Amino acid sequence: MFNIAQLPAKYRQMSVAALEKRALEVKAQLGKDLFIPAHHYQKDEVLKFADKTGDSLELANYSRDNAAKYIVFCGVHFMAETADMLTADDQIVLLPDLRAGCSMADMANIQQVERCDRLLQEQYQIDVLPLTYVNSTAAIKAFVGRKNGACLTSGNAHKMVSWALSMNQVILFLPDQHLGRNTAYDLGVPLDQMAIYDPIRQTLIYEGDVSDIRIILWQGHCSVHEKFTTANIEHLRRTEPDRRIIVHPECSFDVVRQSDDNGSTRKIIQTIENAAPGTKWAIGTEMNLVNRLIKHHPELDIISLNPYMCACLTMNRIDLPHFVWCLDKIVAQDLSNQITVDAETTTYALQALDKMLQRQ
Ligand code: 13P
Ligand code: SF4
Repeated sequence: MFNIAQLPAKYRQMSVAALEKRALEVKAQLGKDLFIPAHHYQKDEVLKFADKTGDSLELANYSRDNAAKYIVFCGVHFMAETADMLTADDQIVLLPDLRAGCSMADMANIQQVERCDRLLQEQYQIDVLPLTYVNSTAAIKAFVGRKNGACLTSGNAHKMVSWALSMNQVILFLPDQHLGRNTAYDLGVPLDQMAIYDPIRQTLIYEGDVSDIRIILWQGHCSVHEKFTTANIEHLRRTEPDRRIIVHPECSFDVVRQSDDNGSTRKIIQTIENAAPGTKWAIGTEMNLVNRLIKHHPELDIISLNPYMCACLTMNRIDLPHFVWCLDKIVAQDLSNQITVDAETTTYALQALDKMLQRQ
């Protein structure tokens, strides 16, 4: 494990006004050489400096389509890796806090995935077609590319799983079991044709005849979205039956089934933007985004589906002090926050990413 430098005390001591002034100065100084994409789950204090905001699919598109020399990625590590792979070799992608990982992406590493593939081939004679959520390491994306599989995001999951089902191979869906189960079920795959792979016990969990399996779900999940429960839904149905419930498909199967609607970050935002004034909503997704929707839509009555919900801790690591420190380091030509993916990994991972970008 490499050492990550601590934020210098100076940045903690600066006032918000001084930090914001410095951010604007560096933005003006670097001009077109600087591009700042930010995920919708970022804090307002950082998001206000973004050139583009978006969900993970939109941010992948924006990264690919811009020519800036420095890309300060306000999101989490796997998104910055993806941006590095989608941009030219001389473009530099930086992550303001190198500790901004993703607990879901951490639930699968390349050794576990290769072991799973071997086990399925040797014990069950199953040669899988892998699909990986973009919330995964570049090494896993490359594994998927080598096996002719594809990446996906919640924004195009139905298109990608539908494509994979048409290939008539057993799908290995990783690392989020919930997005895999919710999407495959929507597309007509019954639960009894879905198996689970437990990467800790290295076991395939399935009760029927193995030849009936159509999709194998990696036993991973998002530690933010798992906090929405059917008890939250039952409470609202009892107390406020006229409040519509919309959740992200990283929520569990039962939560998604019992909600009125579900969809990617983009779909949730669009649904709220198009909602009739005066309508009541409960949203099951990350709290920075829910709070922003509440603030921007005073004409609606919006609450979080879970009243005790908090923001994604790893997304929140990118705060204003780290952001300004990162900008200052660019000016000083210190590129210690750079995220790079080696050429061989990039070649294969791009094969999986290209399939995702072709089906939006
Ligand atoms: P999307 O941006 O694809 O909706 O994903 C949500 C998420 O959890 C990002 O980490
Ligand atoms: Fe990862 Fe969940 Fe945070 Fe998204 S919300 S970055 S999936 S932990």
